[in-house]
Amino acid sequence: MVILRAQKRSIVLVPFPYQGHTTPMLQLGKILHSRGFSIIVAHTKFNSLNTLNHPEFVFFPLEDNVSAGLDTSIGNISAVITAINENCKVSLQDSLAQMMKDRENHGHVCCIIYDAVMHFSRSVANHLNISSMVLGTFSAFYMQTHHTILRLGAENSIPLQESKLLEPVPELHALRFKDLLIPVNTEIPQTVLELLKDISNIGSSIGIIWNTTEDLDHKSLSELRQLYKVPIFPIGPFHKIVPASSTSFLKEDTSCIEWLDKQAPNSVLYISLGSLACIEEKELEETAWGLAKSGQPFLWVVRPCSVNGSNWIEQLPNGFQDCIGERGQIVKWAPQKEVLGHPAVGGFLTHCGWNSTLESLCEAVPMICRPCFSDQMANARYITHVWKVGLELEEVNDREVIGKTVKRLMIENEGKQVRQRVLDMKQKLDTSMKKSGASYQSLSDLTDFINSFPL
Ligand code: UDX
Repeated sequence: MVILRAQKRSIVLVPFPYQGHTTPMLQLGKILHSRGFSIIVAHTKFNSLNTLNHPEFVFFPLEDNVSAGLDTSIGNISAVITAINENCKVSLQDSLAQMMKDRENHGHVCCIIYDAVMHFSRSVANHLNISSMVLGTFSAFYMQTHHTILRLGAENSIPLQESKLLEPVPELHALRFKDLLIPVNTEIPQTVLELLKDISNIGSSIGIIWNTTEDLDHKSLSELRQLYKVPIFPIGPFHKIVPASSTSFLKEDTSCIEWLDKQAPNSVLYISLGSLACIEEKELEETAWGLAKSGQPFLWVVRPCSVNGSNWIEQLPNGFQDCIGERGQIVKWAPQKEVLGHPAVGGFLTHCGWNSTLESLCEAVPMICRPCFSDQMANARYITHVWKVGLELEEVNDREVIGKTVKRLMIENEGKQVRQRVLDMKQKLDTSMKKSGASYQSLSDLTDFINSFPL
């Protein structure tokens, strides 16, 4: 039966314009498109994505005015988020109002799905009388940390006492106060607390979609269901549901795959700190010597300008060049999912971004955790202490510690046990995606839920 466009349900996606957030939103778009929905993506001009990679979606730009004089470095991210939320509202509202009048071309706009960070979308949806759902691009346990920080703020417990840092947070299972990244010596600015409040106020949408699974996040999902009282659909890991087109902001260097083809199974350590984290020159140097000392082959992603004060790898120590070539490769940006799925890759030194964590778990690659900021501290704690599928890197500026940790994971007995646990986890995730598995069922529920919105 042919369904006319005017009778089709269209979903408007509003991604947050950073790699780690745009990727899961576009993956979700692909999943929902495969379930028969039309997909419209409202994207900022700031950090604009490559629309040509997704011919099945309709795109329209939002006037964000972000590049006009605002410091957009990662240190100023909360100001960028605030600016996007303030500036894009009118643009989204006007464009959607036009589209809703034009059913012939845009179908029936039945729902907005927005990244939790793009909370302005909720008021636009309310204004236009459209349903709104939220996408959680990080774990449910990380969302719970927002509520804890807000509670501590309300109780005037911030700044935290230094003596509390290693204590467990009573309501957060495995997490310590240290993992919340609350300042010890300064107050949290009121604007940041307001932002946390807006981001965690997701129960006022009609449902929440999460790039997570019951296997990884069950306790937190149950608690958040109690708190928010709206349906929650943990359908992840998204990248395993449908093959997605490239969502990379940077050009992938695929030459490393040929090099991996020549390496022994499980021998290579892959190193990447995601799309945002930067390191100091000292860490670059100590990591280089740590890798040299470990004796393991390595594939290392160093993004341009990700080492402070440097364009790329010109600050690598003299003598380390001998390790590059047969022993190791350095690239500016890798096809990460393909790399992690390659049989030669046996370990991942990661910043523990949520996408990298899921991608590593899905390929049964054990991790060495070097978290930098935001949810990465909490993710690292779950990797090392809850799922026990990785080791903590205890010192980032010490070549001896780095070299020993790499050996512990890649060749020692301890690493074998970690590898077995991550393999068990991968099998659980595989099962969850199969028919009658929890994520599969949740995706069916989500599809039925959206199809129940009136035409
Ligand atoms: C950001 C936050 O920093 C992270 O903590 C949060 O969980 C999501 O948003 P980012 O730092 O980029 O993301 O990390 P991550 O979530 O791991 O996402 C990085 C993505 O880039 C992954 O999908 C990864 O496959 C991809 N990538 C990374 C590449 O394709 N090539 C690379 O060389 C490195």
